[in-house]
Amino acid sequence: MDIEYRWRDTVTDPELVELTRAHGGNTEPGWWDRIRPHSLGWVSARTGQGRLVGFVNVAWDGGDHAFLLDTKTHPEHQRQGIGTALCGHAARGAHRAGCEWLHVDFRPELAPFYFDSCGFTSTSAGLIDLTQFRV
Ligand SMILES: CC(C)(COP(=O)(O)OP(=O)(O)OC[C@H]1O[C@@H](n2cnc3c(N)ncnc32)[C@H](O)[C@@H]1OP(=O)(O)O)[C@@H](O)C(=O)NCCC(=O)NCCS
Repeated sequence: MDIEYRWRDTVTDPELVELTRAHGGNTEPGWWDRIRPHSLGWVSARTGQGRLVGFVNVAWDGGDHAFLLDTKTHPEHQRQGIGTALCGHAARGAHRAGCEWLHVDFRPELAPFYFDSCGFTSTSAGLIDLTQFRV
């Protein structure tokens, strides 16, 4: 199937809610409208009929670091190279915007996807679970 990839395509909040829920993910209506103004960019993957079947968001620090978030391919279209293509387009979009580094973190089982297919290398990173904080 022909898939069209676009950087900073118009993607609506309901489209992203539907895509997220299609693979059992949690989302709240309004999420995308709220965060979009803070993104460096995003990549959409659409069928010839215009259906959104893939998405990745690219956050950044306003300088040379970009961060991949929310990579998703619709379950009916997974394992066809769409996720890999989304990450490639995101990397090129971040590079064109002047970034020098693209970061991602992920569950261990996705290592073959991000390392072997998308070309990320391993690095040290840190994390704090902020839900443990008492206000
Ligand atoms: C992860 C995800 C984006 C991959 O999208 P995709 O379009 O299926 O990926 P690709 O077809 O480009 O996969 C290329 C290769 O990556 C690896 N890969 C893909 N999905 C994988 C998975 N779930 N687990 C382990 N390896 C995976 C495989 O080696 C695959 O090659 P193969 O199909 O020849 O075996 C998709 O499974 C998804 O949307 N998952 C739900 C949301 C999610 O967890 N997102 C990640 C947030 S960090």
